[in-house]
Parts: sequence; structure tokens; C-alpha cells
Amino acid sequence: MKNESVSEPLETAGGYMIRPRVLLANGLRRETSADLYNDIAGRLRARGIEVEIIHAMDGAGQTFQGYDLLISNVVVPASMQAGMSTYAGRRVSRPTSLRLLAEFDVPTMEWSLARTRREVRALFDAWSTERVLLKPSFTYGGKGVRVFTRNAVWRLRWKRDVDVFCPEINPDDGDVYKAELLNGRVLISWKSAAPPIRMLFRHGLHRGIRGAYGERSLWELPSELTAKLEALSRRLTFEGMSHVSVDLMRRADGELIAIELNTGSVATWWTRQFSHFRNQYAEALFELAVQHGTKREFYSTGG
Ligand SMILES: Nc1ncnc2c1ncn2[C@@H]1O[C@H](COP(=O)(O)OP(=O)(O)O)[C@@H](O)[C@H]1O
Ligand SMILES: [Mg+2]
Repeated sequence: MKNESVSEPLETAGGYMIRPRVLLANGLRRETSADLYNDIAGRLRARGIEVEIIHAMDGAGQTFQGYDLLISNVVVPASMQAGMSTYAGRRVSRPTSLRLLAEFDVPTMEWSLARTRREVRALFDAWSTERVLLKPSFTYGGKGVRVFTRNAVWRLRWKRDVDVFCPEINPDDGDVYKAELLNGRVLISWKSAAPPIRMLFRHGLHRGIRGAYGERSLWELPSELTAKLEALSRRLTFEGMSHVSVDLMRRADGELIAIELNTGSVATWWTRQFSHFRNQYAEALFELAVQHGTKREFYSTGG
């Protein structure tokens, strides 16, 4: 796929700049998200950004030329990124992403690594809790998460350096809150109603808590969290990430606590039920493209 058209300059608030040519790679399944991404690409084109869109990683294994910028909501193969600035998903371990949340002063759940089963048993006392969760790194959608009581510790296996243990945020509340972020913006914040863990099981070991798959509704992110998450998102963009989301739960005293930062593959398909999401998404992508175009012009002068 080659794009050799000569770009007209794009007028922006700050003057003129070179039009960035964007390759938008939607890594989600075509059936669930093609309409959303096509719509977003259309909105960008209407604002003067050249966009080519590929769905479901159809482009993996291909090489692309003539683009300035590759943007994707999932991790993209290195071969696809050749010659382009890339903003995409990234595999980040849970300890690293939880530390990042704390670094940006986002109230974050307590967590711990453990080397031995004895250390895991000690966590029940340290946290005065009946149930502890094990969240393996690089698992998604709640599928890998395990919950266990003290008597089942002997059955656990985990990776010492990357899998984290944590206490339940609130034994009486399983609802999950989500904020989706891109390029320093909160795209949308929503809530998923889910039962507390004790409704799933009381004793032993249970695998899988799909808290984000309950009934969804819009929810307003408190302003002090908004500012912190915007700052976090700007930093992640600077590091080459794109669409990320933060999962939160509510403690018994009402405080919202982050349980996870998703950087790998962010599921946008369900957010399309909320009509303002696509405006926000297109706006954040437009700004990302414009920032990039400005940079390109800046570096190209004098050379
Ligand atoms: N500390 C916690 N207390 C209670 N429930 C939790 C806690 N952490 C995670 N969960 C539940 O497990 C689900 C999956 O955990 P999460 O950290 O979002 O991992 P992932 O979505 O990557 O699998 C959450 O949606 C939530 O329902
Ligand atoms: Mg999650």
C-alpha cells in the first residue's frame, strides 16, 4: 500500500503544518469494531488528516510506506512499525503498571509480590482479609485472575517477579469503574455492575472474575482523578502508547481505588454504545496527528 500524493499544508490554530499521513490499525475483531473505526477515520479525513485504516491486524506481515504515523489500540508487530512513529499498545507487567499509577498519585490498591507460599499466607494477616486475589501479568478480561482462601494456598502456582497478590477492595461491592484515555484526554468513563466476589465462591480457589462484563452505564469521573489520569495519559503517549484504560473499584469508605492500568489491548467495541465516545476518540487522534505534524515540520526546516 503506497501513498505518494503530495500533501497540501493543513491549517491549524498555530498556522500551517505538513499534513501527517496516518495508518490507523484497529486490532480488534472486525465484526465488533470495524464500523466504529471506519467512522473515526471518516471524522479525521473530514478534518484534513490522511488516514488509511486496516482492521484486525490484516496488515501484520505487510510493510507500509508513505505514512508518518502508525496508531493502534493493540500491540503491533515490530515489522509493521518500520519507518513510522508508532503509538500503540504495549505489554507492561502488573508491577510496572501499578507503580506508574502510584507515581501519578492515583489511589491504587495494595499489592505484593511473593516468593513462597509462606509469604502468601502472611498476606492474609497483613491485610486482615479472608480472600486474596492473584493477578498474573499479561492476562486480560478477568480470565486469569484467581481468588483464594488461606486453605487453598497450596494449590497456587505463580511467577514470582510479575504476578501480583492483592486484597479485595470491598467484600460488599463488585462494581468496576473504567476510565479510557488517549493522548492526555479522558475519552469516556463508565461503570460495570458486578456482584461481589463472595457471590462467586466462599472457600477454596476460584478462577476468573469478569467484573468489567456486567451491565454498563456512563459514570462521571471525579475531577481530581481526571487531572491525574490526563497527566498519566500524556506520559504514556510520550512513551509511544495510545489508548489505555484504568480500572477502579470503590472501597467501603467510598474512595475509588485503581486496580489496573490496561496498556496492551483496550477493548473499545462496547464503548461505541455511547455516542460521544467516537467524537472524543477522533478528537484525541486528531490532536495526536497534529502534534506529530508540527514536529515533522519543525524538524524538517533548516535541513
Ligand atoms: N483488588 C480487587 N478486589 C476485588 N476485585 C478485584 C480486585 N482486582 C480485580 N478484581 C476483579 O477482577 C477483575 C479482573 O481484574 P483486573 O485487575 O481488571 O485484571 P484483567 O482485567 O487484566 O484480567 C476486575 O474486573 C474485578 O472484577
Ligand atoms: Mg480489567
